[in-house]
Amino acid sequence: MRKNIVAGNWKMNKTLDEGIQLAEEVDKLVAQGVPDNTEVIIAPPYIHLAELSKRINTKRVHLSAQNCASEPTGAYTGEISAAMVKSTGAEYVIIGHSERRKYYGETNAILKKKIELALENQLNPIYCCGEVLDQRNANQHFEVVKSQISDALFFLSEEEFSKIIIAYEPVWAIGTGVTASPEQAQEMHAYIRQLVTDRYGEQVAENITILYGGSCKPSNAKELFSNKDVDGGLIGGASLKAGDFYAIIQSV
Ligand code: PGA
Repeated sequence: MRKNIVAGNWKMNKTLDEGIQLAEEVDKLVAQGVPDNTEVIIAPPYIHLAELSKRINTKRVHLSAQNCASEPTGAYTGEISAAMVKSTGAEYVIIGHSERRKYYGETNAILKKKIELALENQLNPIYCCGEVLDQRNANQHFEVVKSQISDALFFLSEEEFSKIIIAYEPVWAIGTGVTASPEQAQEMHAYIRQLVTDRYGEQVAENITILYGGSCKPSNAKELFSNKDVDGGLIGGASLKAGDFYAIIQSV
């Protein structure tokens, strides 16, 4: 049976002290219990990872980076490699978030290199895909998501691919307060699962976790997660308040 996951993407928020406080609050709440078969992940800024891995129970609240470099090591000032992320105690890395694609010019070709490096370093990638509003209005959303997934992921072997988590995040829903309707989310998630079936077969497709992201909050999480192909969420703004994040976890 595939895992449900709720992951909090803190983005560029929280100083170290604030981050420790939030992570400890989340850890305390999660200790009270989560739905069966559910994994909780937080993705704080890189520089908090090593400290948080000492402060929280990382078997209960798993750690993720928000990004990693597309090169393994060397003269790339300001970059953080997959090996460095792994050495902090993090188990996951978000790759291909739309903000990285938009503001830092990350293409599917670059993301493919990051996926490779993450897997080489035993990190589980949370790979983000999703269309912008113009693409949806032009009815190109399926095509866009298909190329994001096939260009960056479908070179992987079956064994490698089974370590991937996919997050569908329609860009028009991120941080806007506009959520995809449960029908829109389910439709795209089913489409993604079908792409995986076509490439890797039914067994792999049944086991892959596909998250929804984009203005997910306590008031809409249950409806979104109740869809058959929606296996949890990647949560931005609402993951910055421990109580809201925990409410979303309980909706899975
Ligand atoms: P949001 O962000 O929940 O604030 O819309 C989601 C994301 O970007 O992962």
